Amino acid sequence: MSKKLSKASAVTSRTRIDLGENARRQMSDLLNERLADALDLAGQCKQAHWNVKGPNFSALHGLFDTLHANVNVHVDVIAERIVALGGTAFGTASIVAEKTTLPAYPTDIRSGRDHADRMSIAFAAFAKVARAAIETADEAGDAITADLFTAVGAQTDKDLWMLDAHLED
Ligand SMILES: [Fe+2]
Repeated sequence: MSKKLSKASAVTSRTRIDLGENARRQMSDLLNERLADALDLAGQCKQAHWNVKGPNFSALHGLFDTLHANVNVHVDVIAERIVALGGTAFGTASIVAEKTTLPAYPTDIRSGRDHADRMSIAFAAFAKVARAAIETADEAGDAITADLFTAVGAQTDKDLWMLDAHLED
């Protein structure tokens, strides 16, 4: 077993939660995968917030920070669900870099349109994996984790709308 797998599969804390160890391990792994994505997404929001330039600077600078705040809520909810299930939340930068499934954010773009477009790609990718996580959690018998991802997905879809609205001509 690889070091990464054994770390990701640990559900070691004592808990009286009404879910079997297999389901808790599976949910802990799933939540850690999406935690890495959410932390990557949060960093991407700040990358856009700091570096955007152009005539829509003010609106987009503010929007990207609002989106960052929304994603940070997901980060905390996901991480604390992992711990509630008896697992360990893995939130360090090195683990995020290893595990994220989001496309890498370009560091050589400047215009509002380019940043809105790349943010839209990132939010769409996160919305897709959050939606898939609802089904995985349902199949594992954990309606609460499914509900968590439903809430995350709903907010992410809404955030995606905010971004896509800036891409209309
Ligand atoms: Fe700021």
